[in-house]
Amino acid sequence: MSGPTKLALTQDLPPPTEQPNVYPLSWHNKTAKLEEVWDASVREQWDPKALPWDTFDVESYTWEEREAIAYWWTILSVFDASAPPVFAEALIKTYEVHEEDAVRRCFFSVTRDEQNHEQMCGLAITKLLGSPSPLEHEPKTELGRKAKRNAQWLYYNGGRYWNGYKKAVPKYSLAVLFSSFLMGEIAAATIFHQMAAGCTEPVFKEAFRNIGRDEGRHMAICMAVMERDYPKLAKEDAAIITKQIRAGYLFLSAVLFEPPEEFWDIPADFIEVQRKCEAVARGAGFHIPDYEAKKENWKKAMLNLKGVLDKYDIPFPAIPEVGISGQEILQVDMDEIIPVF
Ligand SMILES: [Fe+2]
Ligand SMILES: [Fe+2]
Repeated sequence: MSGPTKLALTQDLPPPTEQPNVYPLSWHNKTAKLEEVWDASVREQWDPKALPWDTFDVESYTWEEREAIAYWWTILSVFDASAPPVFAEALIKTYEVHEEDAVRRCFFSVTRDEQNHEQMCGLAITKLLGSPSPLEHEPKTELGRKAKRNAQWLYYNGGRYWNGYKKAVPKYSLAVLFSSFLMGEIAAATIFHQMAAGCTEPVFKEAFRNIGRDEGRHMAICMAVMERDYPKLAKEDAAIITKQIRAGYLFLSAVLFEPPEEFWDIPADFIEVQRKCEAVARGAGFHIPDYEAKKENWKKAMLNLKGVLDKYDIPFPAIPEVGISGQEILQVDMDEIIPVF
């Protein structure tokens, strides 16, 4: 009888486990701020299904308004429906590199929050359209028909990013990944707070309040890890960060501002249709910040981030679209970007 040799019969202690090994058997905690954020995430947990849906009378909106508001939720879903797998992948990385216990938990909380945001998008769209998918919905108005076409192009563009992201995660350090995450979180926290303040429909108001609070925590997580890691950042990492910030601007502009045509593969009337949808949604009490307000937000988020990077001498990219000068980044491809929302 022969089987695999049992090491335990021949030696007292097992050989060392090859690293990196996916599980850390250790719970180090050095960054106190992260423990605080984790505790807040437990306290502030919410359930999209438990929002005041019974006060939401979809019939009180016209079909054009319903399709226009659903269009905004669709744009958000392009980012938020990819966020759970994106952060789940990053969560696995925190285990592989044996990150501090609180970092692992914080990433778990972000994955969970993003799942909530995605669920919220689904609930809103399903109610508004009477269909579980904007891609399956049969448009009822001319604007709805154009919005569906926009949604199809958004979906196509967003789909180009997952394979690149999967390749990027093992390649880059967490310090690089965090800088890419941060810009999305800064801008997201602001826009959701504005929408919460301006929306008239209670169920949306409350959802935005919750989502904005979640995004504020995500921002705090990124900040804490950056403050921990940036003082010892490798030179080559700094260059990658500069490029990723520019990529983040181009990618996230689609939801936080307007999609830049040099990066997003979209039809000529795309932006016009989007503006029309936003105007109709706004008219129905669904507060989407207008062009100037979005631009101002986005600029502020960039300047906040620039303030962080300046402290560590990491060059900031030029963002001429919102009037920020810096290092010129020439070419950014959809399949090499990390940024998430
Ligand atoms: Fe989110
Ligand atoms: Fe987030």
